[in-house]
Amino acid sequence: MSADTVVAGHRSPAATTRSTSSSLIYFSSVSGYTKRFIEKLGLDAARIPLHANDPALLATRPYVLVLPTYGGEKGERSILPQVIRFLNNEGNRNLLRGVIGAGNTNFGTTYCLAADKISAKCGVPVLYRFELMGTSDDVLHVRQGLEEFWKQQSRSRP
Ligand SMILES: Cc1cc2nc3c(=O)[nH]c(=O)nc-3n(C[C@H](O)[C@H](O)[C@H](O)COP(=O)(O)O)c2cc1C
Repeated sequence: MSADTVVAGHRSPAATTRSTSSSLIYFSSVSGYTKRFIEKLGLDAARIPLHANDPALLATRPYVLVLPTYGGEKGERSILPQVIRFLNNEGNRNLLRGVIGAGNTNFGTTYCLAADKISAKCGVPVLYRFELMGTSDDVLHVRQGLEEFWKQQSRSRP
């Protein structure tokens, strides 16, 4: 569970926001593969809302974004609108430190393309890529990798 707070908006439910201090933020569609991977990690994490009327998620601390690619072979529109909406918030964008891509190698050249696109656009590294809900090796690599990554970050940005 993450330490989230809900702040009611003044005009409509869509104006409501939810803040998170999690250092891991992820998107997962209704198929929930990425959610299952995150659950296996056992780390505090916040999910980007699925529906337009859900409270918008606001990051309050530096974080790593985990996201699947949805696009198909041409790689068009590979970043889902929910993720675009989240990153269109300048505060959220400024706190992004790295990306982890989820995908399926069956898609060939567009494997984890959304992570590559966000990496290029926001100037942050792609830290890891995994398929579907990830293997137990993926879970170990990401757990250890994130621990090392945040140590490095605190050394370079005291
Ligand atoms: C319509 C559709 C398009 C997809 N396109 C890609 C793609 O271009 N590249 C890729 O690596 N994976 C692609 N995938 C695979 C998903 O990224 C993968 O299944 C992911 O684990 C889904 O995560 P989620 O269930 O958390 O949303 C696609 C899946 C679907 C259903």
